[in-house]
Parts: sequence; structure tokens; C-alpha cells
Amino acid sequence: MLGPMSAPQREHWSRGLGFTLAAVGSAVGLGNMWRFSYMTAEHGGAAFVLLYVLMTLLLGLPVMLAELTVGRGAGKSPILALGHYGGRKWRPLGGLFVLTGFAILSYYSVIAGWTLRYTVSGVLGGFPEPSNAEALFGQIASGWDAVAWHLGFMVICTFVVARGVRAGIERASLLLMPVLGLMLLGLAVFAAVLPGSGAGYGYYFTGDLRGALDFDVVTDAAAQAFFSLSLGMGAILTYASYLSRQSDLPLEGARIALSDFGVALLAGLVVFPLIFALGLQHDVGESTLGALFITLPTAFNKLGAAGAIIGVIFMLALSVAALTSAISLLEVVTASLVDVWNWRRAPAAWLCGGAIALVGVPSALNLEVLDAMDSVGGQFLLVLGGALLAVFVGWVMKNPAAEAAGMHPRPALGAWVWLLRIVVPVILAVLAFYPGGLASQSFGKLWKLFTG
Ligand code: PHE
Repeated sequence: MLGPMSAPQREHWSRGLGFTLAAVGSAVGLGNMWRFSYMTAEHGGAAFVLLYVLMTLLLGLPVMLAELTVGRGAGKSPILALGHYGGRKWRPLGGLFVLTGFAILSYYSVIAGWTLRYTVSGVLGGFPEPSNAEALFGQIASGWDAVAWHLGFMVICTFVVARGVRAGIERASLLLMPVLGLMLLGLAVFAAVLPGSGAGYGYYFTGDLRGALDFDVVTDAAAQAFFSLSLGMGAILTYASYLSRQSDLPLEGARIALSDFGVALLAGLVVFPLIFALGLQHDVGESTLGALFITLPTAFNKLGAAGAIIGVIFMLALSVAALTSAISLLEVVTASLVDVWNWRRAPAAWLCGGAIALVGVPSALNLEVLDAMDSVGGQFLLVLGGALLAVFVGWVMKNPAAEAAGMHPRPALGAWVWLLRIVVPVILAVLAFYPGGLASQSFGKLWKLFTG
């Protein structure tokens, strides 16, 4: 073991693919499969998809590269990484990231618990009759059952993080990501050959684009881009801190974003054809957080024996995707204890995992709490964090273009810095703080919770 005086060696990914799969694993999660579909349905289809792509390119990619640059350059988790480039006064921004990760994982794990529960009950007894689907969701989504599955999920997640970067995170990603890809492809093919699925594609790819002009839709699309790419709270930053100097950051960023978008698109290609083929579109018209967890099980039930198998594969895919994302959320919090306070990894992981599990209990008992946590943590704080990080890299860091390039110089990086200096922060600030924007939406929800 290490002597008392020697600083412990920082772990690194054992190979480039390890980082890529882990980062894609972080990005691809419930955000792509559950939130993307529910937001698309809520905002009327194609208009939302289009805006989401725009936001990913204009805001997501630049912030992604910012996180990669700070993480790899500093070789530290967020609090120390921001201190490394900006001095002590920037450490609180890293603290905000940790807090955001804490908040998101606390409710994310509750939803992940639902997917585990649906997987297991699908294996044991199939999926509910249409008349029962809503009641069953009610039972699964909140109450002591939900608490138990949430805690179970947190135990699995913490177990992986406690094992470390290579033996835990990298190994889990190498195993789980290909499995996830195969399951999704299989599901999309199945949905495509269902009679009547065509209308689902129509809904997904066409539609009234005027919806894209609503401020509401724009804020949700931007927030969704951040959530889905795991940006604005240091997850990508922390994973990049285990990267070696040779890695090509712009290329890695593009890879992660493209895979993430590909999976969101693919998930839509499973969900919408399935729903339309079975004539269930009216159930998701007024989509809410739980709609997919009611509609899809109904669809699986209607499909008979094949549906039970398809349903189990779908719910398992959701659980796997959720696990690799949850791991990255917990890693941000854990790595901070390890880096800043020199904790050993395993106790740090169990302490953080335990605390987050506790904070998640109210979300498991009450859907409104979960919804408010998602608004505050999963939307507002991510957009705020992204804006502040853009300002940090654009204005505080010295020569970010050279840091981002490393051994792979690229002329376009000069333009990237200007995006970070002006375009990204201005747009994000408007989306966050304009009346009716993300701040007022999320604090409105919190206010309602406390005042009843
Ligand atoms: N990107 C993950 C998803 O789509 C969620 C996430 C957000 C993970 C922020 C890490 C950080 O489900």
C-alpha cells in the first residue's frame, strides 16, 4: 500500500474506448428514452425534435468541449479543476456542480427504480391489462415500494462507483453499452414491422413547425440538450479528468454527442411507431412525466406473448441506460470527496450514495416532489452551470483553444472560444432568467410544493 507521504496515483482509463463508452454511457440514459419521448409528445412532435438538434449543435457541443478541456487539462474533479484554472474564487462553481449532481441523482434513481420494477414484474407476470395500467403505475411510482426499488438501484450504482474507474466504471460500460445498443436496435426493428406503425413515423418527423416558436418549447429543448448530453454539472469534466494527454477532444465530443443523439432518435423510433400501431396515441397527447410508463406497458400487454418479451427487453434497456448515467452522477460527487478531502474511494462512494439515497426518498413518495426536483436540478441548474462554465472557459481560462487542441490543432477552435464568450452565455441566460424561463418555471414548482 501507499506510504503516508506519497500522494495516491490518479487512475486513468485503460484504453481510449473505455472513456468513450463511459461518456456515451453517461449521456445515454433515461433522458434519451423517457424524457426525450415525453417532451417530444408534450410539444407536438417534429418541432421539438428540430429545436433539440439546433440546441445540441449551437449550445451543447461548445459546452461539451469546454468540460472536456477543463477536465483533461486539470486532471481533477470539478471543485479542484475550476480552482486549478481560476483560483480559489472559482471553486464554488465546482461546488454547484456537485450539488446539481446530488439533486439529479436523488430523483433519477427513483425513476430507474421504476424501470427495474417493471422489468422484474414483466418477467414474473407480464404487463398489465389496459384497464389496470394506470393503477399499477400509481402503485409503482410512489410509495414504499418505490422507495425500496430506488434504494436497490442506488446500491447497484454505488457498488460500481466504489470499485473505481477501471474495475468499476470502465468495465461496466464496456459490458453494458453494446448490450444496450443491440436491445434498442432489435426493438426498433420490431416496432417497424408492426402493422400500422407508419403513422408513428409521420408524427415524429412531420408536424406543425410553428410550435418551435414558443418560448416554452425553446427552453425545454435547450434544457433537454444539456440533460441528455450530461452537461452543466461536471460529469463529462470528471470523466475527462481520467483521460491522457493524447486524446483528441473535439473528436471525442462529437462522438459522444452523435451517439447520444442517435440513441434518442432510435428510442423515438421504438416508442412512437409502437404507440401508433396499437392506437394508443391519444393517451400520450397530453403527455406527462408518467405517460410512457402507462402507455407502453399497455402496448406490451396488447401484443400478447411477444409483447411480454419485448416489454422486458425495453424495460431492461431503460434500466441499463439509467445505470451507466447514474454512475457518472455519483462519480462527480464521490470524486470530489476523494480529490478535495483525500477520502478513500470506497467509503466516499458509500457515504455519497447513502446520502443521495436518503435525499431521494421524498421523490419516491410523491410525484410532485420528483417533478420539482427534475425542474430545478435537471433543467435550471444544468443550464445555469453550462452558462457559467462557458463564461469561465471563454473569459477566465488562459488560451483555452490551445488547451482544447492539445496535440491536435484545429483552426475552428478560435470560433469555439467566441461561442463560449458570447453566444452560449447570452442565450442560456435568456432561457434561464427571462420571465417564464427555466428559473421561474422551476422555482414556481418548488413554491407550489411548499405552499400546497
Ligand atoms: N444524460 C443522462 C440521461 O440522458 C442524465 C445525466 C444528466 C447524467 C446529467 C449525468 C449528468 O439520462
